[in-house]
Amino acid sequence: MSSGPLVLGIETSCDETAVGIVCGRTLLANVISSSVEEHARFGGVVPEIASRAHLEAMPSVIEQALFESNVTLKDIDAIGVTAGPGLIGALLVGTSAAQGLALALNKPVYGVNHLSAHLAVDALDESTSLKPAIGLLVSGGHSSIIQITDMARGVEVLGQTIDDAAGEAFDKIARLLELDFPGGPSIDRLAREGDARAIEFPRGLQDSDYNFSFSGLKTAVSRYLHQTPHSIRADIAASFQEAVVDVLLTKALRACIERGIDSLIIAGGVAANSRLRTEAAERCEIAGIELRIPPSALCTDNGAMVAAITSLALSAGVAPTHLGFATLSTAPLDHPVWA
Ligand code: KG4
Ligand code: ZN
Repeated sequence: MSSGPLVLGIETSCDETAVGIVCGRTLLANVISSSVEEHARFGGVVPEIASRAHLEAMPSVIEQALFESNVTLKDIDAIGVTAGPGLIGALLVGTSAAQGLALALNKPVYGVNHLSAHLAVDALDESTSLKPAIGLLVSGGHSSIIQITDMARGVEVLGQTIDDAAGEAFDKIARLLELDFPGGPSIDRLAREGDARAIEFPRGLQDSDYNFSFSGLKTAVSRYLHQTPHSIRADIAASFQEAVVDVLLTKALRACIERGIDSLIIAGGVAANSRLRTEAAERCEIAGIELRIPPSALCTDNGAMVAAITSLALSAGVAPTHLGFATLSTAPLDHPVWA
């Protein structure tokens, strides 16, 4: 086995009950049980259903991760757990499990920031060295451009959305197009059959700073649908997706150039989007920027990312979190680990 601390990470901020185990920067297991199908008929995640599903799934997900890693609980050096942002009831299941384990095993526990964890999953690509990068974090609740110097101690947020998050925009447009929940993967699939140049949707705040706005785009798509009810759904999906991808990458690459940083990390659920991945690869190649984008399965919520940020914090000498720590529905990125 490779060197470094053996860390078990628990993620329960939304509808995935997930446990990952890493040794240093090596991924050993990444087990996910999702309650997404139980929420589908409501068109969004129902917090109470998510919390109950976490309670039911937690023991077997932990057992499976240990089994796949070929380790026992006694071998674990530290436990990491998402403490926020997220749904409070859902977070509490994870933080209670983590603190219970820490007490029983007499090991340190790290309450970590879900957003920092999304970025830190990049560290599990052992072929790359950990160096300064610009981060484009695009999830269901967040869209931010970040300057990363030390992931384990805090990062500088350069800009973020002033209204909807990128994933939220995907989910809302999918609902307008009567596609399945969650909307991002549905739009991604439908867009492959459409023409991305069919409709010129607006690119919000394109010329200003590093902030994003997706509400104008949402309104434009909604208006287009009402005015042309028989238009081709796949063209709308592809053109909408193109507008989001264009604005995200324009700003992320501008940040790399203006800040003199030649590495871009794209993370969060929307980083699983196939068009974003292809276009990012092309634009980064042209600009001479190294693109670091995790495999799709590590972009959406998972436990490996929680184990990754915990492992980085442990290796950087960051102190563990005090037992009895709070869960937070919102949490800034400059605090990767709870005190
Ligand atoms: O990071 P994540 O799994 O959960 C949060 O922390 O929010 O992100 C979930 C978001 C959802 O809005 C979902 O629709 C979006 O990521 N998403 C995608 C794709 N896969 C997931 N958006 C676009 N294309 C995808 N392939
Ligand atoms: Zn997430």
